[in-house]
Amino acid sequence: MTSSLRFAISPSAAGPEPHELAYQAESVLTAHRMLHERTGPGAEFTGWLDLPRRHDPEEFRRIKEAAARIRSDSDALVVIGIGGSYLGARAAVDALGHAFHNLLPPERRGGPQIFYAGTDLSPRYLTELFEALEGKEVSVNVVSKSGTTTEPAIAFRLFRAYLERRYGKEGARRRIYATTDRARGALKHLADAEGYAQFVIPDDVGGRYSVLTAVGLLPIAAAGIDIDQLMAGAADAAAEYSEPDMERNPCYQYAAARHALYRRGLTTELLVTYEPALRATAEWWKQLFGESEGKDGKGIFPAAAAFTTDLHSMGQYVQDGRRILFETVVQVERPAVDIPLTGGDGADGLGFLEGQTLHRVNHMAFLGTRLAHTEGGVPNLTLTLPELTPYHYGQMLYFFQKACAISGYLLGVNPFDQPGVEAYKQNMYALLGKPGFEARRAELEARLRG
Ligand code: PA5
Repeated sequence: MTSSLRFAISPSAAGPEPHELAYQAESVLTAHRMLHERTGPGAEFTGWLDLPRRHDPEEFRRIKEAAARIRSDSDALVVIGIGGSYLGARAAVDALGHAFHNLLPPERRGGPQIFYAGTDLSPRYLTELFEALEGKEVSVNVVSKSGTTTEPAIAFRLFRAYLERRYGKEGARRRIYATTDRARGALKHLADAEGYAQFVIPDDVGGRYSVLTAVGLLPIAAAGIDIDQLMAGAADAAAEYSEPDMERNPCYQYAAARHALYRRGLTTELLVTYEPALRATAEWWKQLFGESEGKDGKGIFPAAAAFTTDLHSMGQYVQDGRRILFETVVQVERPAVDIPLTGGDGADGLGFLEGQTLHRVNHMAFLGTRLAHTEGGVPNLTLTLPELTPYHYGQMLYFFQKACAISGYLLGVNPFDQPGVEAYKQNMYALLGKPGFEARRAELEARLRG
């Protein structure tokens, strides 16, 4: 096993105190048993728990084969999906790929540009995406477990027509990769009928826990990222974080610490990164925790900030505003590259930086900010990745998934359902005139008229 992630709780008068964590040890153990013995709410969606150690080698081989084909015949891959069906892929591609991946010359990129669609209902976005794709060879990976989610279904309807116009039916068929349910749903039936290459989202893995299935792995591999290493990191994390004793399990310490802080009344967790490549990871994390915990009138509100950028916009509030926050920093210890700060003439007033490096400045910003914020009453939890490699990133994905499940059980909710997401969909369908929603439509229209 290579080196692990490190988790630390900074000393702060705002908590959590060691005894607050100690009080949680019993509950954490109960949550651990509920999860591992599959006796807790939503147990039927806990397939992600040992997925890294028991993933299907045949599916893995097919994913790599498809990724190699996309890399060889496509200038652009459009990933169509929403929520858990795209956030994990985007998080990993951004974190582990080049910051300017899509702008690099093809020979430097070595694979397709990656675009995302089906993530909103904006006509402008799709129109301009089609414009951006002009002259490029395009493949599409459509990802939807239910196969009926409106945003990706509309985007796929448009992309399917576009590919068929450009390449003919047979040519389009070879450029469409469908990741969906094993047996059910509109996308599954369409993929069967049209003969698209298909990848399975296992029944027992929900959207926001699916990044280590074909949902995330196909686009990640198509972007040229080593998915063997990603899975190896997740598999080692699965072993390390299956330790029932919280004292020896950093993942459970994180779950217990955030729960202790919530009980103190700190209802917002700010995920902080100092590396722009991790911005999309924060979006993935927000969905994971927000959709898993925010229910039954409970839950920590997950927010994100990219420092030092947001210290110049959100920093004032964090330091001095209402005390509802705690921070979780995802920190990278050794950067992939560094820039020495040498050769200045001192005219910019930064002579004291001579001989230091940009990473050191970033690191001192982190240490200085952490001290300032904890003194200002914002508790701080820090998760350190030794390096931003596929291996450590795989460890981190698993760390947060496991911590999220344990957190949900500590909170007393089902961390694997999302009943609240339905409300807007029902209203939208009714307003759009979907058959079966006539009564709801009349009621909503009356309300809209006031
Ligand atoms: O985490 C979840 O379950 C959701 O975010 C889903 O991933 C999202 O709603 C997309 O659903 P589907 O894959 O069925 O299109």
